Amino acid sequence: MDPVLTSHVREPRGATLDAYVGRGGYEGLRKALGLAPAQVIDMVKASGLRGRGGAGFPTGMKWQFVPKDSPRPKYLCCNADESEPGTFKDHVLMERNPHLLFEGCLIGCYAIGAKVAYIYIRGEFSHVQRVLEAEIEAARAKGYLGKNIFGSGFDCEIYAHRGAGAYEAGEESALLESLEGKRAQPRLRPPFPAVVGLYGCPTAINNVETLCNVPLILTNGPEWFASLGPEKNGGPKLYCISGHVEKPGVYETSMHVTIRELIDKYGGGIRGGRTLKAVIPGGSSTPVILPDQIDAQASFDGLVKAGSMLGSAAIIVMDDTTCMVWLAENLMHFYRHESCGKCTPCREGTDWLLKILRRIERGEGTMRDIDLLADVASNIGGKTLCPFGDAAVAPVLSTIQHFRAEYEAHVREGRCTCPADWRAM
Ligand SMILES: Cc1cc2nc3c(=O)[nH]c(=O)nc-3n(C[C@H](O)[C@H](O)[C@H](O)COP(=O)(O)O)c2cc1C
Repeated sequence: MDPVLTSHVREPRGATLDAYVGRGGYEGLRKALGLAPAQVIDMVKASGLRGRGGAGFPTGMKWQFVPKDSPRPKYLCCNADESEPGTFKDHVLMERNPHLLFEGCLIGCYAIGAKVAYIYIRGEFSHVQRVLEAEIEAARAKGYLGKNIFGSGFDCEIYAHRGAGAYEAGEESALLESLEGKRAQPRLRPPFPAVVGLYGCPTAINNVETLCNVPLILTNGPEWFASLGPEKNGGPKLYCISGHVEKPGVYETSMHVTIRELIDKYGGGIRGGRTLKAVIPGGSSTPVILPDQIDAQASFDGLVKAGSMLGSAAIIVMDDTTCMVWLAENLMHFYRHESCGKCTPCREGTDWLLKILRRIERGEGTMRDIDLLADVASNIGGKTLCPFGDAAVAPVLSTIQHFRAEYEAHVREGRCTCPADWRAM
């Protein structure tokens, strides 16, 4: 499939308003403003667009949940927190194709009846904020933003807000707290943000890549969008390929692609001709899959069938030198650090898990520690206000499930038994 989201990302000055308009930009918005908001939602529903932020929830349905008759203002929040380990696609869209995102935000606002969109940017992305703010100004100066856009009577503003620099700030309810100036901690649901969101008002929250797909649906039609991928998994998709491949990077294709093709055709194969040991297919929060599962389609439904998830489409590839106990320990270090501390099972449990993993990795653990790990993990998943708890335990549970022998070898031998001292590589 020829790239559509990233087709112009290498063009010098391709991020500017003139370049975007020159390649047909803002035509989707023009078309949307000629339709009723409900018709725009129907088009997005018909396209089958599913959220690219992690859960794959249908975007049109999410927009439909925003009550039309509420007397309160409505908001659209673009989730540009991009902090899931292995994920680095959204910043490419924002830096290289910002007007595609603005156009998606404007169409989304029109569809749900909002007059303001906030783009909540990862705290560390100061360069992204500079690009977005400069391009927002350019769009406003030429009337693509602000009052009475294209003479349609539709008013809309976009603000780029740099976030708190925390992984949890990407969780949608914590994002809303952070935007309101509070600590990025999750809210109890229900009520869901579509009804009680930002400042207590109806709010739709969508990922950057999700919103970037919306202008394409308006311009080319929902059938075209759906036809790009397998049934219920339509549209173009960005994959972040990292780890032990020859050519890590962001690649765009359709969800017909398999994990094997992503590694071999796009990623250039396993580095140095070594053998594959495991793949994390959707960011660090998704269970690992094994070499005999890599013919799975890298789609929302294909990866569920393989026992994992597409998540944020961050494909982390590991060769035979990777120690799976070290992997779990390394990721748990991240989750313990990033736990927002609101829910006791997550705040305390991630610390316990890290201590036990460290013991085993250093060769100081016991066989009982392996069962203790699984026991503590199962008392975190599903017992927290947000899915952070499930995310944190996925690497532990899936590495014990598939690589228990490796944990046992650490205990028995008192050291790592991987084929090479990969830490020196
Ligand atoms: C701990 C945690 C971190 C998350 N981080 C992000 C993120 O950085 N970007 C994102 O789009 N979604 C993130 N999500 C998912 C959001 O909560 C939400 O589902 C998503 O923004 C919805 O957008 P979509 O429907 O377009 O996928 C995160 C979820 C959790 C539990």
